[in-house]
Amino acid sequence: MSPDLQAVHDVLVDVAKQAGHMILSATPRVHAAGSKKNTTDLVTETDQAVEQYIQTTLAAQFPDMGFYGEESYTPGAKLGAEPVFVCDPIDGTANFVHGFPWVCTSLALVIDRKPVVGVIYNPFLRSLYTAIQGQGSFVDLTTPLPLRREPEPLTTLQHALVAVEWGADRRGPNFEVKQRTFVALARAVEDGGAMVHSLRSTGSAALNFALVASGALDLYWEGAAYAWDVSAGWLILSEAGGIVVDTNPGGWEATLDGRRYMAVRGAPAGQKELVQEFWGHVAGQLDYHA
Ligand code: IPD
Ligand code: CA
Repeated sequence: MSPDLQAVHDVLVDVAKQAGHMILSATPRVHAAGSKKNTTDLVTETDQAVEQYIQTTLAAQFPDMGFYGEESYTPGAKLGAEPVFVCDPIDGTANFVHGFPWVCTSLALVIDRKPVVGVIYNPFLRSLYTAIQGQGSFVDLTTPLPLRREPEPLTTLQHALVAVEWGADRRGPNFEVKQRTFVALARAVEDGGAMVHSLRSTGSAALNFALVASGALDLYWEGAAYAWDVSAGWLILSEAGGIVVDTNPGGWEATLDGRRYMAVRGAPAGQKELVQEFWGHVAGQLDYHA
């Protein structure tokens, strides 16, 4: 029997709000075991406590559904055909540690590797982004996305506000591709660059997706994130008319756990042309895989 998506949505909203209370009342303490990968890949006791709370609560209410969360993930675990809750208890952990208020809980129900319910809640800014497949997406449950009811057509990168993230991988060929691409995006057109209006990095992949869905950002280019960072945001964006493709030139089909994502806002024209133009500035291939 297929799940009642509205019921799942309502529970995920409650759970995300409760997670928000936990986050606001916590003192960020980087976990005793230290960081996951290096000094920039942080995990706090709160990330783990919030995920534990979410997993336990969802298991009690929906015992037939699986769980795929950042803190309890075992390497090699894959999304499959069965319904699964995909959870990032705190997206923007470095922001949380520093008190920079771009922090959220990101929750999705994924069936057959496609998100069907998505909820993102930022307790610091009290903003809630939600979507149910086929029913549009909303901020604060009532305001539809995108925020402009008649979004402008996309034209060129020269008129675009673009998000990129530095991520936690700061070595090797992937880092080279990223930093050369960032420079190409910023550089003057006369010198071969795209000269975007500007680059932004909020430090939360989920909130970047929400900002593209709302229309505040035109595009977000991300290599190295995981399904828990993007599942809710992907649905919220696509319900707002946006698209997700690969970071790498020619990749029109991105996958939820493929780790490479380019999100483009909803627009009456120009999405594919902007993607093609962007790919022309990607300085190599990002080598991240499911
Ligand atoms: C990170 C953030 C960041 C993105 C990284 C993620 P975390 O998640 O979403 O924006 O660039 O790839 O790992 O560590 O804050 O949960
Ligand atoms: Ca995350």
